[in-house]
Amino acid sequence: MSIQKVYKRYAKVYNFYFGWIFNPGRKMAVQLLNAKPGNRILEVGVGTGLSLPLYSKEVKVVGIDISPEMLERARELINEVKLKNIEDLLLMDAENMTFPDDSFDCVVAMYVASVIPNPKKFIKEIKRVCKPGGPIVIINHFYRPERFSGKAIELLGPLSKVLGFRPNFSLDNFLKETGLVVSDEIPANILDMWTILLSANDKK
Ligand SMILES: C[S@@+](CC[C@H](N)C(=O)[O-])C[C@H]1O[C@@H](n2cnc3c(N)ncnc32)[C@H](O)[C@@H]1O
Repeated sequence: MSIQKVYKRYAKVYNFYFGWIFNPGRKMAVQLLNAKPGNRILEVGVGTGLSLPLYSKEVKVVGIDISPEMLERARELINEVKLKNIEDLLLMDAENMTFPDDSFDCVVAMYVASVIPNPKKFIKEIKRVCKPGGPIVIINHFYRPERFSGKAIELLGPLSKVLGFRPNFSLDNFLKETGLVVSDEIPANILDMWTILLSANDKK
């Protein structure tokens, strides 16, 4: 099943199931971006826009997503909450962005890294559109076989196409594959099962 099909199915119920559970991590990721007034931020895989009210009103945010139905929910939310600092919400593939180089001061991607089919292209594109030295913040669940939860998560592996993410996606492989250099790894959400990665854009 394609990612678009999976998220078309999720769009109506996403906030109910994944709103509260992921919210502490969303708040932490936005804070850790440490954006300055006037900064232009890119949020990759913005989904239904649950993070959008969390940004300071003094920054501009552009969100992209590959699912029109998820984006539609995000548009409804910004109209409902009357957010004026959301510059644009665009249907775009994170692996092939249409922005010019160095378009953003910071880039954040929440719960997307294990959904994207090609993490290498995803990080390459993020580095291209982010200014040199700009903060890159990624939050995701990474598979840890040594943990008790690792065993349960291993069982979900064959269902990845239906679930819309790869449950056994390890941090080591992600860093090896993408070459992302991380300055900090911060645990987040229930039982610290998710990790926030902090990086500064080295343009490599
Ligand atoms: C688990 S949801 C996370 C949504 C949101 N970031 C949140 O905090 O709830 C993953 C999102 O990534 C989007 N996505 C998947 N592949 C993508 C791609 N190649 N380019 C852009 N967005 C993508 C999906 O459509 C979905 O909205």
